[in-house]
Amino acid sequence: MTKAAPMRTTLSMKPTGWFQIGWSSTVPPEGVVPLRYFGQDLVAWRDRAGVVHVLDAYCQHLGANLAHGGCVTDTGIRCPFHGWTWDGDGRNVSIPYQDRPNRARRIRSWQVVERDEVLFLWHDVHGREPFFEVPDLATGITPHITGLTFQPALPDGVQHYRDMQVHPQFVIENAVDREHFQFVHGTAMSPVILQEEVTDSTWHTVAGFGRRWADGVDRPDDRRNTITIHWVGIGFAYNAEQTPEGWRVVLISTTPVDDDRTEVFGTYWLEDLPAGTAEDRSRRLNEIAVALPQDLEIWNHQTYLDPPALATSEGAGFRRIRRWSDTFYPDSSPAPAMRRTAAGGV
Ligand code: FES
Ligand SMILES: [Fe+2]
Repeated sequence: MTKAAPMRTTLSMKPTGWFQIGWSSTVPPEGVVPLRYFGQDLVAWRDRAGVVHVLDAYCQHLGANLAHGGCVTDTGIRCPFHGWTWDGDGRNVSIPYQDRPNRARRIRSWQVVERDEVLFLWHDVHGREPFFEVPDLATGITPHITGLTFQPALPDGVQHYRDMQVHPQFVIENAVDREHFQFVHGTAMSPVILQEEVTDSTWHTVAGFGRRWADGVDRPDDRRNTITIHWVGIGFAYNAEQTPEGWRVVLISTTPVDDDRTEVFGTYWLEDLPAGTAEDRSRRLNEIAVALPQDLEIWNHQTYLDPPALATSEGAGFRRIRRWSDTFYPDSSPAPAMRRTAAGGV
């Protein structure tokens, strides 16, 4: 295999946060699956109680890869080479030909959350425990969808793009990039930002489209012709949109595989309407699933400029989101000029 071309940015490929590694279906009951993210070979497995665990892939006995031939037992995952068994915390719980396990040696375990059919992995190069949470679709994105029922996204409401050169930063900057909608997504006009709420871990924006919102004044009870964008760290964002056929929510995630490549995931939930048919579902999915490939065509070939040349109206938003996203990169990351000069700015 030829060496992959480098990413078109020097931004770190080891950001901190929760990152999508698949869906519930990725790790079936008692399944053992090889994964590779953040430059690490991993094994994901679902124990007999249904809980998904992720460990470094290599057995600490003699280095066999647990993802290739390992199997789930009552107490953990058993290595195919000599039968040593490791639990979900990476502890050795049995050596078949010795009366005592090896208590000293552990396999690194990773924190996993399975929520709303999606698997998320916590990554932090400094080894810190998670300091923010993966929200619930029903209650954590926007109060406008609380109490609604959504159809499961699986199996047909998902997209998975491997071998991408899409840095998470390219994706997150969409949250402030009003002008690309006309050109990339064919909207009649650029949206106006109606609401923006930022915390240490979330960036929440409501963008209004068309004449209805031309005055730029938010009417919080009205969400027609708007998109609510809810970022959680820089790994993923939920996008919630009210349409004449009910609400739809899209999860867009970007996860580094190694220093050269990423994977991009799209997950689509449609509000479950009483009279909806299977044909309605596939038409509604097709309508919503066109946007991500449009963005990917840009992101996958984009280079990261620092500083970029911005129009007057764009400066404040880009500066603020770059300052915010900077907090998710390890300290050793280069401190790009734009963010240095933006200190104390808008
Ligand atoms: S290498 Fe895993 S049990 Fe020997
Ligand atoms: Fe976009």
